[in-house]
Amino acid sequence: MALKITVIGTGYLGATHAAAMAELGFEVLALDVVPEKIELLSSGRVPMYEPGLEELLRKHVAGIEGSTGRLRFTLEWAEVADFGDVHFVCVNTPQKHGEYACDMSYVDAAVESLAARLTRPALVVGKSTVPVGSAERLAARIAELAPAGPEVTLAWNPEFLREGYAVQDTLHPDRIVIGVNGPRAEEAERTLRQVYATPIAEGSPFVVTDFPTAELVKTSANSFLATKISFINAMAEVCEAAGGDVAKLAEALGHDDRIGRKFLRAGIGFGGGCLPKDIRAFMARAGELGADQALTFLREVDSINMRRRGHMVELAREAVGGDSSFLGKRVAVLGATFKPDSDDVRDSPALNVAGQIHLQGGQVTVYDPKGMANARRLFPTLGYADSALEAVRGADVVLHLTEWREFRELDPAALGAAASRRLILDGRNALDPARWREAGWTYRAMGRPNA
Ligand code: UGA
Repeated sequence: MALKITVIGTGYLGATHAAAMAELGFEVLALDVVPEKIELLSSGRVPMYEPGLEELLRKHVAGIEGSTGRLRFTLEWAEVADFGDVHFVCVNTPQKHGEYACDMSYVDAAVESLAARLTRPALVVGKSTVPVGSAERLAARIAELAPAGPEVTLAWNPEFLREGYAVQDTLHPDRIVIGVNGPRAEEAERTLRQVYATPIAEGSPFVVTDFPTAELVKTSANSFLATKISFINAMAEVCEAAGGDVAKLAEALGHDDRIGRKFLRAGIGFGGGCLPKDIRAFMARAGELGADQALTFLREVDSINMRRRGHMVELAREAVGGDSSFLGKRVAVLGATFKPDSDDVRDSPALNVAGQIHLQGGQVTVYDPKGMANARRLFPTLGYADSALEAVRGADVVLHLTEWREFRELDPAALGAAASRRLILDGRNALDPARWREAGWTYRAMGRPNA
């Protein structure tokens, strides 16, 4: 009999996972505790911008004309417990206020609400990013609470999807990692091989580990990526001091396939809902385990990253006159989201820079192709424009802070006619300097010599 799947939590991870499971042919029931989200998703709409997700959802949500009807949403725990053979826990684990550690309360609540209602055999699969050791603790909790007792098993299956590529990463993962343990480990592995039969057949590697290793794969992958970005940003600092060009440096390094060219783009650094909080939670957890020394380098990775934002503010200050304030200066900011192809502004370096300049008296006008509504909610006092051209009108300096394709395709001449001064600072090293310089702009980028 075909497995029935539930997904608990319908944020980026859960909504995408639910739609992907339906696409793989399973009957899926997804739960969230927020009624507005359930209402929106049930009508085939997605509460965030993620390329391809709404289309995939509409292809499967029950009640939508022409859909397969394989995907439904609910607010009821009992319905979920009753329906599922496999339950994926996809709730978020944000950073705790005033602490490095992550907040496990949503994961704990989800697992407890579900476990207490499991009266039939089921596999609970954790996908949330959690501190190592959580799976073992949650397995014990499930054993305590589940009426079906030992017939309920836990497995850990971290998720590696990137925002902007969530659908593709979920349907065609570059690896599937599962952590299993206990007397039913083999059965859990068999079940997950069935769930992921399609990507496995396509060649996705399937790695089976114990609980702690599976949890660690996730946090160490994000730590490695963060380290790579901070490495190149540290090189950008040295390049600036030595008169080198970090973009060329990265290109040359990238030809060494042991290093690789990806994640070597210097600029204002990483942000978002994952990398910053994951490295902090990892440090906090290592401290609890008495292994804090092993991760002290992540503190440096974090501070190199946070320095980038301050450095961008300083470059902008220099650009508008060099004295101590931005008073009376107009600053256009292109980009608000933490990366392109997303409307996510969580811990966005772009908005952080915009906010700092605004707080120092600059008149900041922001434009972003998809992040305007979220940016306005977070920073209501910044100025916002409906287009790049409008943001740039009258500006003393233009900051390019999120590398949207739309910005690479802008016409520097048209923008030049609107700006008060033709001065652009590229915080992502993503624009073509020659195009901007030809149109009369002074183009400066981080870690590169001024022409
Ligand atoms: C990240 C990981 O890449 C995913 O594998 C992981 O599943 C996800 O976190 C998660 O934990 O859920 P994501 O947060 O979508 O994915 O963003 P990334 O593509 O990793 O980018 C993070 C930040 O690094 C962005 O602000 C981006 O602009 C910045 N970045 C990236 C650079 O500054 N330079 C680069 O060369 C690459």
